Amino acid sequence: MTRIFSGIKPTGHLTLGNYLGALRRWVEVDQHRADALFSVVDLHALTVEHDPARVRRLSRQAATLMLAAGLDPALCTVFVQSHVDEHTRLSYLLECTATDGELRRMIQYKEKSARARASGESVRFSLLSYPVLMAADILAYRTDEVPVGEDQTQHVELTRDLALRFNQRYGHTFTVPRATRPPVAARVMDLQDPTSKMGKSHDSGAGIVYLLDDTDAVRKKIMRAVTDSGREVAYDRDAKPGVTNLLEILAACTDRDPQELAGAYDSYGALKRDTAEAVVELLRPMRARHAALAADSDSVEQVLREGAERARSMARPVVDSAFRAIGLLPA
Ligand code: AMP
Ligand code: TRP
Repeated sequence: MTRIFSGIKPTGHLTLGNYLGALRRWVEVDQHRADALFSVVDLHALTVEHDPARVRRLSRQAATLMLAAGLDPALCTVFVQSHVDEHTRLSYLLECTATDGELRRMIQYKEKSARARASGESVRFSLLSYPVLMAADILAYRTDEVPVGEDQTQHVELTRDLALRFNQRYGHTFTVPRATRPPVAARVMDLQDPTSKMGKSHDSGAGIVYLLDDTDAVRKKIMRAVTDSGREVAYDRDAKPGVTNLLEILAACTDRDPQELAGAYDSYGALKRDTAEAVVELLRPMRARHAALAADSDSVEQVLREGAERARSMARPVVDSAFRAIGLLPA
């Protein structure tokens, strides 16, 4: 059976981008057709300045939202990365497989480290090594497929390179995984700046729809979305980034084709109104389930405990075999 692994970092409240670009497909497709693991990858949240209490809170919230969105512990494994030691054990072996040069070439590292330096912040070493830990997350489970948004392609490529290199040097140990992407809305853009990704760690929330935003906030943010000059509703990422983003969101919410939808509108206002309603309806059941689960945190903790146990039992033999292959004495 195909093995799938993916994760979400608890660095902020989950957004519509996380849902349309990742979570929805995990729920609707992946957990049914494969042996899937979905993780709150909390160790990755420590690569930038962080507040311990906030990371704790966001980790619990992300796990609760993953279940509220419909991940079913009877079908897949939901767990918190730091509960399974195998990830950091394997990460070190992969640090001994990766090169300094290839890590410094990662676009996300270049962008994030430049931004941090520009604002006078220090850059944590773990920001550089982060894709190696991500590779360990994936390879520890002999994963076949990694469903992620477009922004993660380069990290999955690196994971493939490391798996191939390790296998070649030390004998076949890892499955070489591949990234998979949702057909539309692989990249939901910020409503106030449609040329940059809707990301949960952005400073201002005006362009970001959070999964737990109330109905009024969702409507307001979408109605105030930046649109483009001219009046024609056209699907064209370069010439009309704002309108195209709305069309993609609406298409993803209603399972329609964005290009076709473009032809159905003759004003920006109508497109915004329909997009706002579609998002509100999409999020309504998830918010209700989140409230019920948040009130029963014991059951969420139980799911995470069982998930970690299952994940550990899968990863342990793989990581042990990597330890032996690379030349470490068995304990
Ligand atoms: P992150 O928020 O970086 O932890 O990402 C968790 C998952 O959501 C990854 O698979 C990302 O590719 C995906 N994702 C995050 N933001 C967006 C976005 N704006 N559009 C599409 N996918 C996204
Ligand atoms: N780096 C991913 C992101 O920023 C999160 C992540 C960490 C991940 N480990 C992973 C995704 C393993 C897929 C598989 O979105």
